[in-house]
Amino acid sequence: MSTPSIIELITKKRDGETLSDDEIRWLIGAYTDGTVPDYQMAAMAMAIYIRGLGPDELTAWTEAMLHSGDVLELSDIDGAKIDKHSTGGVGDKVSIPLAPIVAACGVNVPMMSGRGLGHTGGTLDKLETIPGFNTSFDRDGFHRILTDTGLVLAGQSERLVPADRKLYALRDATATVSSIPLISSSIMSKKLAEDLDGLVLDVKVGSGAFMTEPESARELAETMIGIGKAHGVPVTALITGMDQPLGRAVGNANEIRESLEVLSGGGPADLVEITKALAVEMLELAGIEEATTQVERSIESGDALAKFIEVVIAQGGDPKVTEDPTLLPEPDHEIPLIAEREGIVTRCDARVVGLSAMRLGAGRSRKEDEIDPAVGIRVEAKLGDTVAQGDTLAVVEVRTREQFDSIEMDLRSAWEIGENAIDAPPLIRDRITSEL
Ligand code: URA
Repeated sequence: MSTPSIIELITKKRDGETLSDDEIRWLIGAYTDGTVPDYQMAAMAMAIYIRGLGPDELTAWTEAMLHSGDVLELSDIDGAKIDKHSTGGVGDKVSIPLAPIVAACGVNVPMMSGRGLGHTGGTLDKLETIPGFNTSFDRDGFHRILTDTGLVLAGQSERLVPADRKLYALRDATATVSSIPLISSSIMSKKLAEDLDGLVLDVKVGSGAFMTEPESARELAETMIGIGKAHGVPVTALITGMDQPLGRAVGNANEIRESLEVLSGGGPADLVEITKALAVEMLELAGIEEATTQVERSIESGDALAKFIEVVIAQGGDPKVTEDPTLLPEPDHEIPLIAEREGIVTRCDARVVGLSAMRLGAGRSRKEDEIDPAVGIRVEAKLGDTVAQGDTLAVVEVRTREQFDSIEMDLRSAWEIGENAIDAPPLIRDRITSEL
């Protein structure tokens, strides 16, 4: 193939024509090495945002992204290697109890997670509230911890899918994030680079999710399952509600405390339900029988908690936090947000709660921002709950009273208190699985 002209490729996509495999491979390579500048890739991203990618284009695009850098080689590790990916939400700390539960059932979990941005939190920020806990490893370090403990909870290395690192930042700045082909190829290229035997997706839908409508959440799930299938990796997706925060804790250290409750057999019912459902799917992809029983047993026996302690030690963290969660960063004040009227909670908006937590310092509005691990929000009144005037809707965990004052009005707008009882929507809305 002669070297394509980037202007011709942009023109083709803009006019709704199909890019060839060679053209896509060249484009991703040339963007990664800097031959194609950001401004031309931005035009291409917008053309894709508007025109989409056909199935063959999507496969070629994902493949080219996947091979833009290092790909893990884990074939020497015995047993199935299964990961979970969530499209992100508010209070979504599922990975933290899930990974040790699954690993305690004998499945390898090479988990690569991200950091919080905007109203959504990130697993790495939460884990790093454990004193000493390291999430940054080179390939050998990642491999060693996975071999020794059966799980690793790490960030993505600089060399894994570098094309996505550049392209995601560009999309963030050019209003081209929320495109199903671009999201699905971004997520799946990173997951396929982990050399997995199976992947479980938690595709969130609702006010606190990327996808606010059920149809688009389903389309995103089906698109990612299709990419997995084209690469021979079985994928199961659960579509789960993100209208209200998951569990009660929204923040960082407070989410570790709540995760420890789940690992000890307690925790809020919605968080426990999703964690167990995803664990069962991961075990089933690994070919483990009686998955539900195995998951229950791993929690009740204490094996899951023991596995968590093992990985905390392996990653340099202080395991004493599991016995004494007060060793985690703590806020100076816990200030209640009080209900001004009685009634039934008909809305508890995940996005508003997430944005309020971000403004307290629990999250980032820009990638470079530092987070404050101690601050956050504990949601007390959830959808369908009955509240009396003066009841606590949420407890705001802050450093100073002024921080509470600065978000009080906005946070309060997350709740709607009505007259009539409502049926809280089911948490798990749908399950889609690939047939390879
Ligand atoms: N998460 C990703 O990794 N990529 C996207 O495009 C969106 C969410």
